[in-house]
Amino acid sequence: MEVREVGVVGLGTMGAGIAEVFARGGLSVTAVEADRDALARGMSILGSSLGRAVSRGKLTEDEHAQILGRVRPGSAMTSLSGADLVIEVVPEQLAVKRQVLAELDQVLRPTAIVATNTSSLSVTTIAAGSAYPGRLVGMHFFNPAPVMRLVEVVSTVLTEPAAGQAVTALARRLGKTPVQVTDRAGFVANALLLPYLNHAVRLLETGYATRDDIDLAVTAGIGLPMGPLALLDLIGLDTSLAVLQVLQREFGGTRYTPAPLLRRLADAGRTGRKSGSGFYDYPAQSPPAAGSPAGQRAEPPPPGTVTLIDPATAGARTGAAERAGPHSERAAELASLVAVAGISVTRNPVHPTDLVIVAVGPQGGVLGPATAAGRAADAVGLHVAAPGLAEIVPTPLTSARALAHAGALVARLGLPAVRSADRPGLLAGALLYPHLRDAVAMIGDGYATASDVDTVMTLGCGYPRGPVRMLAEAGVERAAEVLAAMHAGYGDPAFAPPPLLIEYVRGGLSPLAHGAR
Ligand code: 3HC
Repeated sequence: MEVREVGVVGLGTMGAGIAEVFARGGLSVTAVEADRDALARGMSILGSSLGRAVSRGKLTEDEHAQILGRVRPGSAMTSLSGADLVIEVVPEQLAVKRQVLAELDQVLRPTAIVATNTSSLSVTTIAAGSAYPGRLVGMHFFNPAPVMRLVEVVSTVLTEPAAGQAVTALARRLGKTPVQVTDRAGFVANALLLPYLNHAVRLLETGYATRDDIDLAVTAGIGLPMGPLALLDLIGLDTSLAVLQVLQREFGGTRYTPAPLLRRLADAGRTGRKSGSGFYDYPAQSPPAAGSPAGQRAEPPPPGTVTLIDPATAGARTGAAERAGPHSERAAELASLVAVAGISVTRNPVHPTDLVIVAVGPQGGVLGPATAAGRAADAVGLHVAAPGLAEIVPTPLTSARALAHAGALVARLGLPAVRSADRPGLLAGALLYPHLRDAVAMIGDGYATASDVDTVMTLGCGYPRGPVRMLAEAGVERAAEVLAAMHAGYGDPAFAPPPLLIEYVRGGLSPLAHGAR
């Protein structure tokens, strides 16, 4: 069935974005909002998004007018009677969705398709309350809908195959990439994204790291387009909370238990961009850009000489033997980075330097080697996370002076810097590895293939590389080690390496070579 005329019910941010996608795709769109003010607001979101495209030279004035001309605002469901497909984008409350579906059942032709953009309700439950459950399909767009290229097409056990196929074909016609999934909480993207975002809120509220450092660790240290707290503001804290609650109900476990701070901010109406404030204030503040010096603080001049301790070899040798033996690769890289910045490096812990650097790995562990060297007050850990982030890791014994010297040192290295607690994973890794773990667990569960997971996260969330590729690049052994250290450190099974990751490690397998399961 070819879809020509479509309807969009609900013209909030997502609804307006979806109406824009349809109209840009040449379809004739009826956009319905019962409330006149909400209709006007929705049309103005659509207008300003198209206006931005004109001002960026992506659309001509003529194209702008043609696209807008394809969108007919309406306030009555009866205006949808001729539609081939209607998508509902109304608030995420089952009773509200059911009411809309009941009204659509009255006005639509029985052959019309009804799509839902729900992100937190079961598509099956929504369908089961409709007079025509076979024609109901999940069509899950991503924010901002005009930009993100993914559509998750969700079929339930009640969906007629033709309806799923028609929605898949439509998504392709709109220039999107459809990924077909079955009805499970969070589908693919939200089931992976939300626990990771929730973990970021927990790190913030427990004082593990600051807001700006958390976001910078992700953009500069992992290379994702937005930090998790900025992304929560974009998605909406209320929406995020709703998705977490449904994930928690379906899967259980701490990873889905909403962080109290997320709940409090949502309860307080600080829902993110749409309300003017969330973790950031809008439009006054903006999150730190990757590579910006926002994570760096005003520091004294860098130390002239630093002592480098290599925890990988410190336990193996002692005294002169330790100082003469080869460095681990990590410590050698750090030593040459520091030397290139014009700071001399000694390995002698009794040499009276201003700063002792422990070349800490992503598993953490600064305090032991720092104390063993008798220099705990002068010592910080330093870890350089790809693609270019310095993680400065003080211990409870690090002096303010040593910390200031470390800040000055990384400023000299020219790297964006964050401060991390001395815990397994440090900062970027503590966010990344459990996220990769969740992806592997989902593949191991048979819910999605490795390739679907990577498609979903690159096209739906703008990742430069999907989680499976990131895992392959980081190395399955390293991922398993960091996760095992997090599991041991926190005693939380949510961090335990999943069976499939252990299989990759034991079998020397690449997660990329691993096909559909
Ligand atoms: N509406 C329309 N277009 C927008 C937009 C918006 N709100 N925001 C940005 N754009 C467009 C810009 O006009 C620009 O278009 P152009 O390339 O044609 O000129 C393009 O997007 C890039 O914008 P900018 O240069 O201003 O900004 P960035 O390069 O920083 O990109 C971003 C912005 C696309 C939002 C990028 O940061 C990104 O990909 N972030 C990740 C977003 C994400 O993860 N979304 C999924 C959230 S999960 C979800 O929605 C599911 C739900 O169920 C919870």
